[in-house]
Amino acid sequence: MADTVDLLAGVVGARHVLSGDAVPEEYGHDESLTAPARLPAHLVRPASAAEVAGILRVAGALRLPVTARGAGTGMSGACVPRADGIVVSFERMNRVLELDPADQVAVVQPGVTLDELDARAAEAGLCYPVRPGEQSASVGGTIATNAGGMYAVRHGVTRHHVLGVEAVLVSGEIVRSGGRYVKTSTGYDLTQLLVGSEGTLALVTEAVLRLAPRAGHTATVLAPFGSAEEVSAAVPGLLGAGLAPLALEYVDLLTMAAITADHDFGLGVPDEVRDTALGYLAVVLEDHSAGRLEEDVETAGERLLELGAADVYVLPPAAARRLTEAREHAFWTAKAAGADDVVDLVVPRSSLPGLLAEADVVARESGSVVTGCGHAGDGNVHLAVFQPDPVARDTVLRRLFRAGTALGGAVSGEHGVGMAKKRYFLEFTDPAKVALMRRIKQAFDPDGILNPDVLFD
Ligand code: MLT
Ligand code: ZN
Repeated sequence: MADTVDLLAGVVGARHVLSGDAVPEEYGHDESLTAPARLPAHLVRPASAAEVAGILRVAGALRLPVTARGAGTGMSGACVPRADGIVVSFERMNRVLELDPADQVAVVQPGVTLDELDARAAEAGLCYPVRPGEQSASVGGTIATNAGGMYAVRHGVTRHHVLGVEAVLVSGEIVRSGGRYVKTSTGYDLTQLLVGSEGTLALVTEAVLRLAPRAGHTATVLAPFGSAEEVSAAVPGLLGAGLAPLALEYVDLLTMAAITADHDFGLGVPDEVRDTALGYLAVVLEDHSAGRLEEDVETAGERLLELGAADVYVLPPAAARRLTEAREHAFWTAKAAGADDVVDLVVPRSSLPGLLAEADVVARESGSVVTGCGHAGDGNVHLAVFQPDPVARDTVLRRLFRAGTALGGAVSGEHGVGMAKKRYFLEFTDPAKVALMRRIKQAFDPDGILNPDVLFD
């Protein structure tokens, strides 16, 4: 161990290597509800790609497992290290290296947070429109999991914004892929292979990110419906009206009651409507022109009523802000209420009513509570599962994943597989595809030292 510390200190400096009991508790976990925490033998904090390469050479020579870590806000345990392993924390590689308004890109290090990046983009009238709900997340972590979030229905997910990366291979070689352009037709797309690979293939040390123009005007329309299925059934019709909402979120009755319990939100929904509503659709619209926004709000309202909404409320800005914050806090509300797990299944958006109907059946038959909200425009649900018995809970999750994949969906839309959803990923993904993924892993990391417990056994 002393040798390992010396070798790592030789790369990053003794101040940036912590070992044994000196490793702080937070480096052993993320926000997953089910992946057990585990502290690493060593924590290292590199300041450059060259230092990351040095760390990987040491780890390779000693066959020590390596886990990359951003801000630790992940939901699937993908940054939980091995007990004998090394955590590479990117907290010192936290700079926006360049913000280029001409190409509308930012060149960033992985430790930059989404908030910091968006604030820098705002100075140039631009935005980084990836909003997974936790703005203290690091860019590196969101690349590792291909984070999505509320604005994906308009702007796509992380992978649609990552134009290029610099990454360090397990051999210590530093490779660059992509660049400041959207188009590339030049061999395998290694950039996109690394996005979502959860630290199992290489460590990303720099990224070129595509920014978007910042719209000046936004409005939020809230529509209560008679059932959660009706809410989700309205989504294709709303998008079919030619609107391109920034966010299109559904919230079921129980979740709405829980997230709005503490304050008067001023949503303007009268008691008699609230008493009969079983689900809500929140539509956020934005535009550069106030006039065009107003037209879109009107179209959205008319369309929502045609699609079965009990009524339509254009929220005052303060109420809209509070509702968005409460929705983004929904996971924490569920956790505080004792949720035992959270599922982030994705299905084609038109299949969402079928999935939610099945979730109701599963909940009833298993004596569990399954409740939630999610990115309805993306067919991506966040279902909190309250079922303390691990065997019964496993059955609930498997039934949900079976239903979702049978509808053409996937186990995780945006939280990732990590350790928490590994067995479901392996059970519900085409075996030929998993076998190919294993061969890709083997090509990148023949000794299996990069995040060895993530994705595969
Ligand atoms: C969200 O959309 O709020 C995040 O993905 C976290 C979650 O609710 O599970
Ligand atoms: Zn989400």
